[in-house]
Amino acid sequence: MIRVTTFARLPPRPRAGTIAAAMALANEPAFARQHLLGIEGLSAAEIEDLLDLADGFVELNRQSEKKLQLLRGRTLINLFFEPSTRTQTSFELAGKRLGADVVNMAVARSSVVKGETLIDTAMTLNAMHPDVLVVRHHESGAVALLARHVRCAVINAGDGAHEHPTQALLDALTIRRRKGRIAGLVVAICGDILHSRVARSNILLLRTMGARVRVVAPPTLLPRAVESLGVEAVTDMQRGLEDADIVMMLRLQSERMQGSLVPSVREYFHFFGLTHEKLRAAKPDAMIMHPGPMNRGVEIDGVVADDINRSAILDQVEMGVAVRMAVLDATTRRLRAQA
Ligand code: NCD
Repeated sequence: MIRVTTFARLPPRPRAGTIAAAMALANEPAFARQHLLGIEGLSAAEIEDLLDLADGFVELNRQSEKKLQLLRGRTLINLFFEPSTRTQTSFELAGKRLGADVVNMAVARSSVVKGETLIDTAMTLNAMHPDVLVVRHHESGAVALLARHVRCAVINAGDGAHEHPTQALLDALTIRRRKGRIAGLVVAICGDILHSRVARSNILLLRTMGARVRVVAPPTLLPRAVESLGVEAVTDMQRGLEDADIVMMLRLQSERMQGSLVPSVREYFHFFGLTHEKLRAAKPDAMIMHPGPMNRGVEIDGVVADDINRSAILDQVEMGVAVRMAVLDATTRRLRAQA
């Protein structure tokens, strides 16, 4: 079943994608939330607004002078309980480009290893008056729990296998800029769906925006009742890629697996690894995506990943900074209005 979400248009505003549009939106309380904990519950209008806002930041980031003062005097704390390079750097750059002071809290060296609970960490940080906390945690729901104990804005940078909302937003921005739309596109999300917060957030966002979503994986890597999310589940790669506009590959998350869910890496690559040969089933102009980090030769052939005509993997990284700037801007609007 394809559900195309319709929504009321917002009042006219400057052309999307211009810095003027980004600035004008910054004063418009369209996304009136203090936290971004997930894609679940966001309306199509809210998602569109964040993407429009991010479009303006893409242009800004391509200029030599990329610094704004929107968050001047504000403090952003990156609190990562799981290792991350690109997401953490992306948030750090986003915060700095908006003028905020950014602190990266090294959890491995913090009191957490000395037995402090998540709530104690939250309350301790809260006492330091941060304005934004960007949190990644290995437990699903941990970021929402933390948000209940602090006064500042909280952004989920990935919680367990639950959600990774800024990844889904940056993927949507990449798709919208390359394909001109999201509604009606066939998106095949392939690989370790079971452990993937990226898959979950993407499914929620793409369905809300009216795309057709297929999840493609061996049965052992498909969550039970995944169809209830409004997607088609396919266990054959060839069939899953048929007529796809977008092929989104996911990393095999061995660190989250209890027991062996795939017979061997070689066999996995043989059946589910993306190669140019398998890609022939998709549309001739199908775009390839991967959130990174990539396992070349496991879920994707290195040659495909590097194919500059098909792969949007580095675009995704670029869009990541712009989307995070948009999210930081939007979640702190209320705070800034009070100042
Ligand atoms: C993803 C994550 O951490 O959920 N990566 C990322 O945000 N760059 C996907 C993954 O780890 O495979």
